[in-house]
Amino acid sequence: MRKKEISEDLLRWYDENAREMPWRGISDPYGIWVSEIMLQQTRVDTVRDYYVRFMSRFPTLRSLAEAPEEDVLKMWEGLGYYSRARNLRAGAQQVMAEFDGSLPRKPEELRKIKGIGPYTSCSMASIAFGERVPAVDGNVIRVISRLYNMQGDPTEPNTRREIEVLAGDLVPADRPGDHNQAMMDLGATICVPGTPDCGACPLREMCEARKAGTAEQLPNLPQAKPPKEIPWDVVILLSGGSVLLRCREEKMLQGLWCFPMLEGHESPENLPGKLRRKFGLDPQSLTFRGEAKHVFTHQVWRMNLYLAEIPFPPPPVPGYRWVPPEEILSLPFPVAMKAALKLLERGTFD
Ligand code: ADE
Repeated sequence: MRKKEISEDLLRWYDENAREMPWRGISDPYGIWVSEIMLQQTRVDTVRDYYVRFMSRFPTLRSLAEAPEEDVLKMWEGLGYYSRARNLRAGAQQVMAEFDGSLPRKPEELRKIKGIGPYTSCSMASIAFGERVPAVDGNVIRVISRLYNMQGDPTEPNTRREIEVLAGDLVPADRPGDHNQAMMDLGATICVPGTPDCGACPLREMCEARKAGTAEQLPNLPQAKPPKEIPWDVVILLSGGSVLLRCREEKMLQGLWCFPMLEGHESPENLPGKLRRKFGLDPQSLTFRGEAKHVFTHQVWRMNLYLAEIPFPPPPVPGYRWVPPEEILSLPFPVAMKAALKLLERGTFD
């Protein structure tokens, strides 16, 4: 049977070529959960060190549930998509309260937990509990689209469903977790976007797209919209060593700390007036210190960086905190603030 052959060839290849990862070969469902959340939208090579540090800081589901959110975000600092970290902690609290502290094994049950969606419920159920379900991520969509030479757009629900069914048919009863991870590894190392390395593929004899010469064009995804450019003035306001910061409440980067940001690029002559109107602050000096850019998935921040000095003691600014120097680095910052933080670390007014 062809399906059986596909899975057997794939597992044989996986047994020889599986990439080493610190969460592979473990049986702790909590550790597998952490790895799967980190691996959403993030490459394996980036995740490795974060995973090891995170698990040594929060070794059990209970320890994560009991940790302050700010500590969890600090351990996630630099990984991006921070709602993953906030949901993981909230999910751990939910498992303690509603599931007696143990993760359930069925995808339908796992999906009730905060932050666990269709893909993660299936990857966890198969890897941690040996449930025979497919885990369909971007890599697997590419592998299946090529294997069956599918011309449909996988962001369309019908094509997506078809992919799920075909992927599900391939999952063997005995090693579902390994099969799913083999599909992911194949998509990440051989069946890569653009130019796949078909000569090295364990499924080359069965691949319909290879036969048709269409592998490079598949999957047939819609053109991505270019990210929106947003200009900002980012102002490092210092007073007697303390610095003005805000903990973001917006959905994007919620819980992370940022320097005051004013939308638009103001001319240096007009910026003091804007600072007065917005924060009620009158800087005794204000200097332009350079530009920085940060690319998010749907936005690009173009930042003009300024340093400003406020006479001591500084007035309170509603919604902001004057943070003393010894506390600054214990707060979680997004990577977008890295250039501004560097200016601060460098001793500022030299
Ligand atoms: N991407 C998401 N989960 C993964 C896993 N367990 N192995 C490889 N890549 C993955």
